[in-house]
Amino acid sequence: MPTALNVIVLAAGQGTRMKSDLPKVLHPLGARPLLQHVLDTARALRPERLVVVYGHGGQRVVDNVPGDDIIWAEQAEQLGTGHAVAQGVHELSDEAVLLVLYGDVPLTGQDTLARLVNLADTQTLGLLTVNLTDPTGYGRIIRDADGEVTAIREQKDTSEAERQIGEVNTGILAVSVSRLRAWLDKLDNDNAQGEYYLTDIVALAVADGVKIKAMHPHDVDEVLGVNSKSQLAHLERVYQERCAEVLMTQGVTLMDPARIDIRGEVEVGRDVTLDVNVVLLGKVLLGSGVTIGAGCVLRDVEIGDGVEVLPMSVIEEARIGDHSRIGPYSRIRPGTVLAAETHVGNFVEIKNSQVGNKSKINHLSYVGDSSVGARVNVGAGTITCNYDGANKHRTDIGDDVFIGSDTQLVAPVKVGDSATIGAGSTITRDVPPQELTLSRSKQVTLPGWKRPVKKK
Ligand code: UD1
Ligand code: CA
Repeated sequence: MPTALNVIVLAAGQGTRMKSDLPKVLHPLGARPLLQHVLDTARALRPERLVVVYGHGGQRVVDNVPGDDIIWAEQAEQLGTGHAVAQGVHELSDEAVLLVLYGDVPLTGQDTLARLVNLADTQTLGLLTVNLTDPTGYGRIIRDADGEVTAIREQKDTSEAERQIGEVNTGILAVSVSRLRAWLDKLDNDNAQGEYYLTDIVALAVADGVKIKAMHPHDVDEVLGVNSKSQLAHLERVYQERCAEVLMTQGVTLMDPARIDIRGEVEVGRDVTLDVNVVLLGKVLLGSGVTIGAGCVLRDVEIGDGVEVLPMSVIEEARIGDHSRIGPYSRIRPGTVLAAETHVGNFVEIKNSQVGNKSKINHLSYVGDSSVGARVNVGAGTITCNYDGANKHRTDIGDDVFIGSDTQLVAPVKVGDSATIGAGSTITRDVPPQELTLSRSKQVTLPGWKRPVKKK
């Protein structure tokens, strides 16, 4: 019968080596704070209580990590990991098993933690350890002649012989709450760093006849912490590789899995292809048969089936209808909804506009605060002049309209169904349906005119 699970996340450390004003645990990995990753994994284990010990960054950490389920415990002074756990221990339930996590170790697998938790009860303490070729800096796992774990020795307290031990403490452990309370009371700071070491509970447990069961994660990246920008960058790559792997498992073709960045949640249909240097942010939905060209950035978008986004396009907070073609070099801004089979071409910017089926805006245009009907052809260089310097105004274009190149539509203005606008027009009044409307000065030729010549 599994007992209740409590989780405590230690997140009070300063992170001096990050050289940043941002509290360490708020640094983003895949656009989510490090601490958020830890909490998301913890929550997947359905803990009865979830405690976060915070200190450095104070309220800023609390404010930037949402969750009504979080019990915040402040550690005003960072006196060691044992002291940190002691700040939250009164929030825990006696019969529970406590899982100790670090707020700066973001990529521990849920199944690794579940295995660890299953090791722990009142008679057994579960310890997550790894073997490192360079164990410098870590606490070493001390074992007796029978191979049983007897203690953890911090680097600064090790003997020369102990420093040769390659098995190290990851810091992640699972322990009975009631037993832990007793051991925490016994901790002192009589060591090289003058800190209250959580790791000292291991020797105390052994003295009380409790068995230590150590286990390893699947891979070392699961237990790596972030202390520097370089370590953050390494884990970002690991995270991105994992995201790429998930996408490929779902059937996505990645032209190069090492050159894609996922900074949010992605949902995909079948036969999606992503070219190199695509960045996906926020909530991204990609329908079946979608191809996204090289260098595109998509944030909070819904892309319909069979859509082709050509290279170097940026799409944000928009919906693109089935079988549309966007780009290259298109910019689709928030509030834009394109219906099916629309074509938006190079150097076209569309903002807060609706565009109907099969309409084409292929070259060098700006369409803002507009509604464009179905089967409209917007000629090259067309601009909706939506801003009068103070307010934004709407442009309303009917179905089957043909707008000649280099037209300015000075909003507010309406263009009726099937209207044709001659190239180069500045449209300041509503355009009736069906007719040809243009505003253009007459073309003249001056016969016999001579170019000026330079005076001698
Ligand atoms: C600790 C372990 C060490 C292990 C290493 C793994 C102890 C005494 N040592 O080392 O055996 O190999 O982690 O990385 O536990 N923290 C607080 N409050 C504090 C001190 C730390 O919240 O007063 C938090 C930090 O923010 C960090 C985590 O605890 O997330 C570990 O602290 P850190 O200083 O990185 O680890 P060490 O004590 O060096
Ligand atoms: Ca330390």
